[in-house]
Amino acid sequence: MLMSETRLEAGRYWRSGAGKGWERKGNLVFFDCAGGFLRLAVLCGHCLRVTFNPDHRPTERPSVAVVNMPSCEAFTVEQTDDRIMLRTDELTVEVAKETARIKISDSQGHVLSEDADDLGWGRRTVRCTKVMDEEMHFYGLGEKTGFLDKRGRKYLLWNTDVPVHTPTKDPLYKSIPLLLCFRGEWATGTFIDYTGRIWFDLGVEAHDRYGFEVENRELDYYFIYGPDLKRIITTYTGLTGRIELPPLWALGYQQSRWGYYPEAVVRNLAATFRQKDIPCDVIYLDIDYMDGYRVFTWDRERFPDPGRLMADLRAQGFKIVTIVNPGVKKDPDYEVYVEGVRRNLFCRWVTGEVYHGRVWPGEAAFPDFTKEETRAWWAEKHHALLGNGVAGIWNDMNEPSDFSSPSENRMLATVPDDLMVENDGHPCPFGRVHNAYGLQMCRSTHEAFRRLRPGERPFILTRAAYAGIQRYAAVWTGDNCSWWEHLAMSLPLHMNIGLSGVPFVGGDVGGFKEDSTPELFARWVQVGAFTPFFRAHSMYNTRPHEPWAWGPRVEEICRRYIKLRYALLPYLYNEFYRASQTGLPIMRPLVLDYPEDERTHNLNGEFLWGESFLVAPVTQPGVVKQCVYLPEGVWFDYWTDRRYEGKNDYLVDAPLEILPLFVKAGAIIPSVPAVNYVGEKQPEFLQLDVSPDAHGTARYTFYEDDGLTQRYREGEYNLIDFSCRASGEGLLFRIEPVVMGYSSGRKSYRLRFHGLPWAWEINGMEVPAEFGFRVDRGIIEIEIPDEGQAVNI
Ligand code: GLC
Repeated sequence: MLMSETRLEAGRYWRSGAGKGWERKGNLVFFDCAGGFLRLAVLCGHCLRVTFNPDHRPTERPSVAVVNMPSCEAFTVEQTDDRIMLRTDELTVEVAKETARIKISDSQGHVLSEDADDLGWGRRTVRCTKVMDEEMHFYGLGEKTGFLDKRGRKYLLWNTDVPVHTPTKDPLYKSIPLLLCFRGEWATGTFIDYTGRIWFDLGVEAHDRYGFEVENRELDYYFIYGPDLKRIITTYTGLTGRIELPPLWALGYQQSRWGYYPEAVVRNLAATFRQKDIPCDVIYLDIDYMDGYRVFTWDRERFPDPGRLMADLRAQGFKIVTIVNPGVKKDPDYEVYVEGVRRNLFCRWVTGEVYHGRVWPGEAAFPDFTKEETRAWWAEKHHALLGNGVAGIWNDMNEPSDFSSPSENRMLATVPDDLMVENDGHPCPFGRVHNAYGLQMCRSTHEAFRRLRPGERPFILTRAAYAGIQRYAAVWTGDNCSWWEHLAMSLPLHMNIGLSGVPFVGGDVGGFKEDSTPELFARWVQVGAFTPFFRAHSMYNTRPHEPWAWGPRVEEICRRYIKLRYALLPYLYNEFYRASQTGLPIMRPLVLDYPEDERTHNLNGEFLWGESFLVAPVTQPGVVKQCVYLPEGVWFDYWTDRRYEGKNDYLVDAPLEILPLFVKAGAIIPSVPAVNYVGEKQPEFLQLDVSPDAHGTARYTFYEDDGLTQRYREGEYNLIDFSCRASGEGLLFRIEPVVMGYSSGRKSYRLRFHGLPWAWEINGMEVPAEFGFRVDRGIIEIEIPDEGQAVNI
């Protein structure tokens, strides 16, 4: 099985095997093999690091992805005639002495991972193949085209600026080498920590093998055992870090277009949102705000007084996010360029000359973000933006894109592999760190916020990414087109990015290139309202793409769904809190929560939005009825409260106004009245929509804080448990404060009970005078004061 583009001759492959000896040191076990050196590190009972080097014992290399490296010594090593066996409390790892092939089993004897072949080295690569059986499904790998299950595809991880991605286009902008192998009862994760090229073959060349090949001499990967997918993602994000809580406004609606200039256009756009009563928190400025595309400058004709503009817009509740590209214009009169050259902060040829590629400003140099001094310098430069009141930074073109390479081969549309970079004291050719360029840029941007806006939460959006990006930035999926196909494709795309440890994900709503249609735009906004990141963006040469550009019917649909998003912000924010604790995605495939249900294993057209909602969007024109699969449990139609038994398919109404949306029985959904922008007014009450399950129970833990500052880290937050028990005898609802470190200013809770079978019987019943009480279309509504104390009703 060969994956790399350059076919390697079989004879060049070395055998890894014929183990000569082994030695244990703490949590490490070293094996000397005829073909190289293997090191196993035990990180915990269900996670191992496997490192193979043909030339010498592996040494610790700095990793930009792994920020926490646990170590566990609770394991035994023993040997038999032909193998060395390492046992943790959950795994048995067998290394064959003859071949150094590795086989890993769980305590019930399931073989979780088994090398199908000896490791093989070619001149430039090393490859590893594993046994694959009929039952295996593959997820993860970050941003890849195709369906949820990646089985039967080959992929290359190599960050690339892709003008148009068709169904089999590969690679795209982001590389997250986390491969999830799911087999129903159990799942495993393999994370290959390498920032150069990696090829994956998931059963293409051989029907019974999967594998990966890296363009390096050393192979370094982490093996993570589930048994469920959730624990793999939590363990993986334990290694690579989890998302920080974003500012709450970044979960609001965001409006972008390449071409919002001059200042009057931006002011008018902002005014139109308010006048049309369509909530919006963020407006983006694309490359046109800069002076000749010089990064960290302003075009003073188009934006004469950026500070004043930001302040005026801020007064209306708008935050401005500006684009920042890595390419620094070659211009002897431009301070950023001159300084970068003088201080040796740009990527260079091996001969020492600065490399110049070609991007928006024409000839440009590329900062060497692998160097700490460059990251600190770049961070300081953000003063020109953050110092003027810019609220967030949009890092684009950071694959990095370079138009100077032969344009007919977009694979090469990046800087040459053989430039030299500093790599924080371990200089190497660019090709080895290519996939981390965007992450390193975001790391520097994150540093900018830390320096220039201490106390505030950063908001950074990036196009290119590598494993660990969730620590610094939200991601969007680059230049899509206003095609129905791209709307449909975005669902598995976003879900797999989420499974790869990056919960804050979204795509250009409405499509970036080409003209959307009213129907497509309406359907896209419905999906966007339920993606973690919600931004409409379009290219300068397309027709107007704002929510009001499609006639009154679509405008009303946009208003309705954007308002719904704002109403549900407490729920969404809670999901971000959970993601920050567990690493689990917010927009998630059904297989994550219903792994035993085969129907979920490659379900592409539906997703869960957090734990309690199921979204089944329409992604084709002309559809007014939608076939929806509901997994186990009881589900309620969000719009009609109709009750559905799960593990069934249903044909539901889906006229253009309706996004099929379901609430899981047992859920408690927090919401507030929609506002024009986050923080416009403090909500007076928190609504809790309670849908008891078949046993009459529901529960929820609610998180809240100021949504803006870092004070939550010092304990300024609340955690409140809500629980409900309904039975023939009555209803018990409890509010139990767990942590009360934040003063929310809320006056009351509005409880709404759905689906209570005996609702009509208590209609008109007398209730204590201090409770507001009414029954509305079968929903019992009770208003109770919030005095920050435990309440039982
Ligand atoms: C790239 C980005 C796109 C942006 C354009 C101009 O194509 O992906 O979002 O609008 O550059 O900056």
